[in-house]
Amino acid sequence: MTTKGFLRPLTRRAMLSGTAGAATFIATSPLHSPAIAQNAPLKVGMMLPYTGTYAKLGQFIDDGFRLYVEQKGGKLGGRDIAFVQVDDESKPEAATDNMNRLVGREKADVVIGTVHSGVAMAMVKVARDTKTLLIIPNAGANDATGPACAPNIFRTSFSNWQSTYPMGKVMADAGIKNVVTITWRYTAGAEMIGAFAENFTKNGGKIVADLTVPFPEVEFQALITQIAQLKPDAVFSFFAGGGAVKFVKDYAAAGLNKTIPLYGAGFLTDGTIEAQGEAAKGIRTTLHYADNLDNPANLAFLKAFKAKTGKDGDIYAVQGYDGAALLDIGLTAVGGDFNARDKMIAAMGAAKIDSPRGPLSFNKAHNPIQNIYLREVRNGRNEMISVAQAAVDDPARGCKMT
Ligand code: BEZ
Repeated sequence: MTTKGFLRPLTRRAMLSGTAGAATFIATSPLHSPAIAQNAPLKVGMMLPYTGTYAKLGQFIDDGFRLYVEQKGGKLGGRDIAFVQVDDESKPEAATDNMNRLVGREKADVVIGTVHSGVAMAMVKVARDTKTLLIIPNAGANDATGPACAPNIFRTSFSNWQSTYPMGKVMADAGIKNVVTITWRYTAGAEMIGAFAENFTKNGGKIVADLTVPFPEVEFQALITQIAQLKPDAVFSFFAGGGAVKFVKDYAAAGLNKTIPLYGAGFLTDGTIEAQGEAAKGIRTTLHYADNLDNPANLAFLKAFKAKTGKDGDIYAVQGYDGAALLDIGLTAVGGDFNARDKMIAAMGAAKIDSPRGPLSFNKAHNPIQNIYLREVRNGRNEMISVAQAAVDDPARGCKMT
């Protein structure tokens, strides 16, 4: 079922709540009594973007998480699951209030969120202060599993560093010497371009220009003209969601896809490929997922996701699905007793998940260790060309848990 029509950002004082698979609208306060009894449903707060340029990403994470819970009969670790959700709109300025309300007034036991790195860092601060269990199902902000790491914070996605560092060597090895980078001007863009540049320059490459636009702006024309004038060997980019669709189409409309190969972080073409159509053909990216991974877990996941939503699964759906799997492992280890916090966290930290993306485990900072694949858009899919780097572990710079 879809609940999207009811969603409002918390700043507009509206939220959704309900047990797994059945949402009900809650208009005003006070909302719920705390989920304290061990047999009471565990309350999962979904803080994701359901509107704006990252709307589809948030919805797929939500769908992936709920799919896993449904496959377990509406329970994780034997415990019934209830949901409350908020549209964070990818707005960092509203993030602290939104998270405080989920944790304080709504008494969410666990929060799943979010997509945007800036929003996620505000959530991390509240999670640290209140010791709320937080599972990040996308946002790659390096600091979340770096200086701000904490026992109660896990990530089932990637660090920004991790997703693009391998591409630096891939492109240098392909004989590419001069690159122009282009991205949105915020944490994720800066960190993904930074990690790519770190490895590209280490392997002899040169960055000739770093171009940026403010998030979530999509006026790319002036910068595309600049790229045409600079004539680099290739372009490396980070955009995602609606912005990625627009950028790839604009790049092709200017004819640059015929003369200057476009590379990027895999978010450029994941979940966006259908809308990009022919314009995406031939784009090479790195990511911890590819559409044609033929491991049994991926085949089963794609089939189940399609049956539930009528859509093709992507990395965002996988990250949500694995978020629920991780919580399931923690709750199973304690027989559903959420108060056995240390034991639950230890089990989550030691988890080895047979993910649709391939083997997934966690480092001491609670960031995934996973393969990063080199993919190319072929036949309307992100097809794996090779494993760009196996079992990539984020350096977790500044994390005191390591
Ligand atoms: C981020 O803000 O961390 C992010 C957003 C979309 C895709 C990937 C990363």
